[in-house]
Amino acid sequence: MLPQLREVSNYLFDERGKQIRPMLVYLTARACNYHTDPKKESKLTEGQSAIGVISEMIHTASLIHDDVIDAAHIRRGKPTINSVWGQKKAILTGDYILSRATVALSKLRNERVVIVLSQVLDDLVQGEFMQLGSKEDRGERFNHYIKKTFRKTASLMACSCKAVAILADPLNQFLHDVAFNFGMHFGISFQLIDDLLDFIASDDVMGKPTSTDLRLGLATAPVLYACDRFPELDAMIMRRFTQSGDVQRAREIVDQSDGMDQTKRLACFHRDEAIRFISQLGESMERNALIQLSDDVVTRHK
Ligand code: FPP
Ligand code: MG
Ligand code: MG
Repeated sequence: MLPQLREVSNYLFDERGKQIRPMLVYLTARACNYHTDPKKESKLTEGQSAIGVISEMIHTASLIHDDVIDAAHIRRGKPTINSVWGQKKAILTGDYILSRATVALSKLRNERVVIVLSQVLDDLVQGEFMQLGSKEDRGERFNHYIKKTFRKTASLMACSCKAVAILADPLNQFLHDVAFNFGMHFGISFQLIDDLLDFIASDDVMGKPTSTDLRLGLATAPVLYACDRFPELDAMIMRRFTQSGDVQRAREIVDQSDGMDQTKRLACFHRDEAIRFISQLGESMERNALIQLSDDVVTRHK
């Protein structure tokens, strides 16, 4: 393998990330294993362990591409790949990590798992693409935002949880649905908090620049909620905050509105749904840890 491709590909796998996806996948796998047979040890199978790695690889590849799209300079507290090695190498590195993830996935030789995790790639691209457009109608706009949030963030979590559930008990449709729905609500709540933190957290704490969504033209939940009481946001959303003073004014409006509180409330609703689904599994240490993790997502500061 080319030494520089190795160096750039390894750059973000430095344990500085939150590694929330592998944690979610491993805990879900063990909770499913335990649910399937409480007498057997809940130990991960090789396939389940591989899915944790594959999901983190898909996530990392998507972040590398995302940093090119967003022209971002900092990720996880250090310079992005695009800012160190340039856009071309960043795009190819993302492609390479994704291709290695695909090779690892095919080695599992499980057609259903391959189908479930391939859907994630489709969703990631469609979610990112949806983000490039703005909807005129306010009602449609919120649905568009939630659908985009599912595709961009929650699909990877939902499908990875479902994949380990399939490996735990291939014929148990109930288990597969519980795992998928848990991961989906967990992921939506996770992204809602991410969108909220973009308004309130500092760059240092997050390890990436905050207050970027408006500058990138994105109207996330706090703005969409604020728009109900401050319709002057409508025009700004449609022109994607491109006019001078738009970003500053939109921020002020969000601060005056209850948009951030409503966003937190919606994240808590999805957290509760996640907990409701995972609680349908037999009680185990891992199931309880997932309940705790769902709660940590909405109280996190980074
Ligand atoms: C981060 O969003 C980005 C994502 C969660 C998904 C990005 C997906 C793509 C670029 C499609 C290509 C996919 C693959 C698999 C190569 P953000 O910009 O809101 O978050 P940030 O603040 O962490 O940058
Ligand atoms: Mg970004
Ligand atoms: Mg982005």
